[in-house]
Amino acid sequence: MMNKRTIHFIAGARPNFMKIAPIVQAILRGTEQYPNSERNLQFDIVHTGQHYDNNMSKIFFKDLGIPEPRYNLEVGSGTHAEQTARIMIEYEKVLINSKPELIIVVGDVNSTIACSLTARKMGIPVGHVEAGLRSFDMEMPEEINRKLTDVISDLLFVTEESGLTNLRREGIEESRIHFVGNVMIDTLLKQLDGLDSGKYKPNDQIAKFLEQGDKYAVLTLHRQLNVDTRGTFEKIWGALTEISEDIRMLFLSHPRTKSRVEEFKVSTNRITTIDPIGYMDMLHAVRGATMVLTDSGGLQEETTVLGVPCITIRENTERPSTIEIGTNYLVGTDPQRIFSVAQQILGGNAKEGKVPPLWDGNAAERIVDVIIDYMNKSLLSG
Ligand code: UD1
Repeated sequence: MMNKRTIHFIAGARPNFMKIAPIVQAILRGTEQYPNSERNLQFDIVHTGQHYDNNMSKIFFKDLGIPEPRYNLEVGSGTHAEQTARIMIEYEKVLINSKPELIIVVGDVNSTIACSLTARKMGIPVGHVEAGLRSFDMEMPEEINRKLTDVISDLLFVTEESGLTNLRREGIEESRIHFVGNVMIDTLLKQLDGLDSGKYKPNDQIAKFLEQGDKYAVLTLHRQLNVDTRGTFEKIWGALTEISEDIRMLFLSHPRTKSRVEEFKVSTNRITTIDPIGYMDMLHAVRGATMVLTDSGGLQEETTVLGVPCITIRENTERPSTIEIGTNYLVGTDPQRIFSVAQQILGGNAKEGKVPPLWDGNAAERIVDVIIDYMNKSLLSG
């Protein structure tokens, strides 16, 4: 029997959990089906604690059936430097005691760069899931995290064609790049089956909102650039309030935005506002929506696969395939533009979208194949 080889999966912020879930499950399936083969991989989940509220973290482990983390670094909130530094210090301690053969990071949050930088400097290879995405906006902390993580990663797992183009333009060697598809969509397709299994019951707030009629919009907004400056936030909120005259709107309020709503004292009278919800409730609400308004990355992709029109309230997107192929509209933060695209959708004139290549539910299996191949080669080269 081969020795088991250990991988660390890093997750810290809400969007990370959906991305590690299918890879972890693909490994568990391989280990169960082929216990005496190279598919028998051992892994530990490392939760940095960047997000810590139940409905920003624990609920996703439950909804997605992710095993408990072996390590919780419990770093909590702080400035970018404080948070990134705390993760690095705590993760280094873990790595000193248990050196994995590979770590897998996902997305573009502070936990992603903090852990990859720590591991790489200790000579531990890094795989980055969702590599190559670029908004070309260095004002976004996520863009800085993405670019730095890609430069130091050994395996770059790409979700869409723009990612390939970007990495090649940045001079990354072809041998490091793997176009595997989108793990976020693996999770979505799997959990859709769960929604229809008869076992799922929506939480009371969602059930109550949905009972009031089929026509509604779902809103999420949390980007630092959109919500942390009063002028920008008030402008966007004004457009949303105007749209809510024509369609009921459900706002899933992120803790960052909740604080700003209180600080800037904007009116939420017309917009039904609730705290963040779990994955299944979100999927249920989004798939039945007339439209989604958001500044999230993942929702741009999920709406494209669900065929739900999406209005992205940002000046740029690192996920251009959702616009070129899918149902997404990039509208910026100009209130008039946000309002007019919403009117177009409400008038029944939304564009038809298609699903981008390899967003087929099998991305995690492809990633595991690449990992095994990589480990076999490292074993050979000693
Ligand atoms: C982070 C990511 C962002 C991602 C988002 C998803 C970075 C740089 N940003 O942004 O890319 O889209 O997560 O949610 O990593 N808070 C709580 N409870 C929690 C977590 C946070 O109340 O469980 C509050 C704290 O006041 C904290 C604030 O939310 O200061 C912001 O959290 P933070 O993790 O710094 O950034 P996000 O805005 O969540």
